[in-house]
Amino acid sequence: MDAHIGVVGMAVMGSSLALNIESRGYTVSVYNRTAKRTENFVKERAQGKKIIPTYSLSDFVDSLKKPRKIILMVKAGEPTDKMIDALIPLLDKGDILIDGGNAYYKDTERRIERAHKYGLRYIGLGISGGESGALHGPSMMAGGDEDAYREVEEILEKAAAKTDDGPCVAYLGRGSAGHFVKMTHNGIEYAIMEAIAEVYDIMRVGLSMEIPQIQKIFKEWNKGRLNSYLIEITGNLLGVKDRDTGHYMVDIILDKAKSKGTGKWTTQTALDLGVPVPSISEAVFARILSSYKEERVKISRMLDKEDIPTLQAVDGTEFLDILEAALYTAMLLIYAQGFHLLHVASGEYEYGLNLAEVSRIWKGGCIIRAKVLNDFKEMYLENKDLSTPLLSERFIDMIKDNISSLREVILRAKEVEIPLPVLSSTLDYIDGAKRERLPANIIQAQRDYFGAHTFERRDREGVFHVEWEKEAEDSNS
Ligand code: 6PG
Repeated sequence: MDAHIGVVGMAVMGSSLALNIESRGYTVSVYNRTAKRTENFVKERAQGKKIIPTYSLSDFVDSLKKPRKIILMVKAGEPTDKMIDALIPLLDKGDILIDGGNAYYKDTERRIERAHKYGLRYIGLGISGGESGALHGPSMMAGGDEDAYREVEEILEKAAAKTDDGPCVAYLGRGSAGHFVKMTHNGIEYAIMEAIAEVYDIMRVGLSMEIPQIQKIFKEWNKGRLNSYLIEITGNLLGVKDRDTGHYMVDIILDKAKSKGTGKWTTQTALDLGVPVPSISEAVFARILSSYKEERVKISRMLDKEDIPTLQAVDGTEFLDILEAALYTAMLLIYAQGFHLLHVASGEYEYGLNLAEVSRIWKGGCIIRAKVLNDFKEMYLENKDLSTPLLSERFIDMIKDNISSLREVILRAKEVEIPLPVLSSTLDYIDGAKRERLPANIIQAQRDYFGAHTFERRDREGVFHVEWEKEAEDSNS
């Protein structure tokens, strides 16, 4: 029996995706570098299913219908390259390699070039949704060879999450488009996660709320405009207690956040492309700062007052409404930064991204799925060339009456010394973006003063330089 498709890599994501595809009526061949994993998989989760276990790469390749379709679900980086190296001599021209990992987009470009040298076709497929998404329906962002995508489209559409707007998978553009969009997805993910954590901190530390009360608030918020996967899981995880101690899990978990690099890549890429994504970079730095636990403990002894006052809310319930509006505004501004990055990257790398389509496939299955993504979809349907959501009337209508809440939350929380890197950066972002004039004139003058870097004038065309020291003397005399 020839398999319709093969999956390499039987860790959590690969095995779940294989089961998902099988459940849509396909025969799936599987292979893992270490045989034990495959054995366990077929003995347990894959029992009685149309899953063909293979224990050598050549058996795996031989078990696939031609042109072969192979999804790589191995670790990003070197392991992916090694697997591709091992597969290349076994494959025939026209076969399709699909990298479903969180690959760095520049690696994807390099791999596509390499695959083409051997007559192979290549798809960089960003997959989001964690284990449950992979099993029941992820969101999938595809890029690379379009003809190859069309040949796997049906399988991917069947396996993808579904919303009222169709399956959450699309071909997004040439080359590394899919992995670029996935990387940006993760940058947004980092920032929203941190924004939620900061709001939790305001409730827990600032308002001295108990965990069940906070849980109730998140559950309530998830019923409204904040409705999203990350708010939903925060509402759920807050209720979980440790079986050993009976304490709430969140009170036991060490406050050091880890990361695997996609947020950092988003920040680095935004710096390279000259796009402001301050909230994403702040989220990355917040994780980094959190990892300096030992230092923080020492510094807190040197600087922290014992009696930081708790936030005296005028009215607890009223303040929670303001907090909801603040988080909503921050969330919108975080998505806006991510979409701006996608717009610029699309031009730079000639992806030709359809951002309405990106919004659509992010509506379900992925970690950043949220009700507001429908508004982003509408924004881009109204104007597909929108450079940044901040220039959309629809977007401005959504934030305009809520910015004051974001400001109020930050002002009040700062009185009680709560760090808010992401929330504050979203406010600075919009405060900066809506200023007709910024103090960049001072920066330009300073640059010209010490380095003769020149400047432009507001009142005349051209490039100018001033002998500042001489002029300063003359002006004062
Ligand atoms: C997803 C996630 C996933 C990512 C994890 C961990 O879309 O399903 O983005 O791909 O690997 O969220 O990322 P960090 O370890 O960097 O937090």
